[in-house]
Amino acid sequence: MPSILVLNGPNLNLLGSRQPEVYGTTTLADIEALCAEAGTRLKLDVTCAQSNHEGELIDLIHAAKGTHDAIVLNAGAFTHTSIALMDAIASVELPLVELHLSNIHAREAFRHKSYIAPVAVGQICGFGARGYVLALEALEDRLANI
Ligand code: DQA
Repeated sequence: MPSILVLNGPNLNLLGSRQPEVYGTTTLADIEALCAEAGTRLKLDVTCAQSNHEGELIDLIHAAKGTHDAIVLNAGAFTHTSIALMDAIASVELPLVELHLSNIHAREAFRHKSYIAPVAVGQICGFGARGYVLALEALEDRLANI
């Protein structure tokens, strides 16, 4: 069974109470439960992790090589700043879907730039928590058709 790492970055542990007008009221635990359900339906082994620390996210991406077949990453604000995360993703050569709850392109100009996009197979944004399920469906399809 393909194994997928769902990785959430800084401040996403606060989902549910963090700016609900932007990010909704779904908690990170709710999102992880949605991912587990989707994993069962799609026959994917889904592991979820979250960190507020750039270096720890990089370590988790490195560790994914050999243990996971693909990654769903919501890098939060590191999306717009982190060349180090981009390099880590390029180094492990695992298919990765860039995920955002909000539509980053409809928000402030500084959110339009993504360092993740050039090393991702694709980007899903603007669909809230449902985006994680869409990302898992996209990876299931891709892994089945390689
Ligand atoms: C986010 C969008 C980022 O711009 C922001 O910094 C986040 C969350 C999203 O899921 O919409 O922390 O990645």
